Amino acid sequence: MEQRQAAIQSLSGRIRELRDRRKAVILAHFYQRPEVQDVADFVGDSLQLAQQAATTSAEVIVFCGVYFMAESAKILSPAKIVLLPEEEAGCPLADMATPEAVCLRKQELPGCIVITYVNSSAAVKAESDFCCTSSNALQVVMAQPQDRPVLFVPDRNLGDYISRRAGRRLELWDGYCHVHDRLTADDIKSAQTRHPEAPVVVHPECRPEVIGLADHVTSTGGMLKYVGASSASTFIIGTEQGMLHPLQRAFPDKSFYSAAPHMVCPNMKLTTLEKVRWALEDMAPQVEVSPRVHERARQALVRMLEIT
Ligand code: 13P
Ligand code: SF4
Repeated sequence: MEQRQAAIQSLSGRIRELRDRRKAVILAHFYQRPEVQDVADFVGDSLQLAQQAATTSAEVIVFCGVYFMAESAKILSPAKIVLLPEEEAGCPLADMATPEAVCLRKQELPGCIVITYVNSSAAVKAESDFCCTSSNALQVVMAQPQDRPVLFVPDRNLGDYISRRAGRRLELWDGYCHVHDRLTADDIKSAQTRHPEAPVVVHPECRPEVIGLADHVTSTGGMLKYVGASSASTFIIGTEQGMLHPLQRAFPDKSFYSAAPHMVCPNMKLTTLEKVRWALEDMAPQVEVSPRVHERARQALVRMLEIT
């Protein structure tokens, strides 16, 4: 254990040296491994990370997350080098929508507004009017005129939740996140039996019946705010387990329990400290976005940032 801690410290020190030499900033999502979050300059949810990427003065962005997040960073900061330490870190939810299929659906819904969750490819964003994240999806939907259909791509659970919150019908894509969609009402009930005093906080990518059992539904960043404002001392957390680390770090006197042992995103765990070091040493792998889709994808992201 001590040996592992010493190895983490030494590797983190080397990463910080390289980061300074490369004039880089290290951004990490809350689902990353604890030691990767700890070496990052900024840890956040998808929206906060996109905002950081759009405004950073660093010359290089090291993105510890999954591909669509690094791609969004490149779209928002095209002059910067964006490194994704593990280029195989994808998001199966993002892969559930293709630009061709979105175009076909648009033809079936004349005059529709397409709102696309950032968990999507640049090519799908390019076919969209607005992007959104789980923190601002309600705001983005509420900003749309009532007299036009809205197509919500690709997460059906988030879309269903937002449709009920906004009190308006949304045309839902049939995509889902396998990590959140696998959380069942029975998982929640059994966690409640173990921790009867704990409020249940879940991510809106969870199924409607799970959302129905929750005390609070919010993005990963929203979970930190909710816990900070709550007088409770124990919480059941219904999202990817990496989220327990920033919660425990911010609130060392409170206790956090994962809603189910299977809530692990294998793609988020592909990034290791070694890969962050190699990325900074080799200045690779770099994320590039095809010029064919870049400008239209950027517009959808910028419209989202303007609303938020
Ligand atoms: P957040 O926008 O809440 O950070 O969620 C990102 C994500 O990938 C959820 O699975
Ligand atoms: Fe994609 Fe789900 Fe992993 Fe988030 S948790 S990156 S939505 S697979």
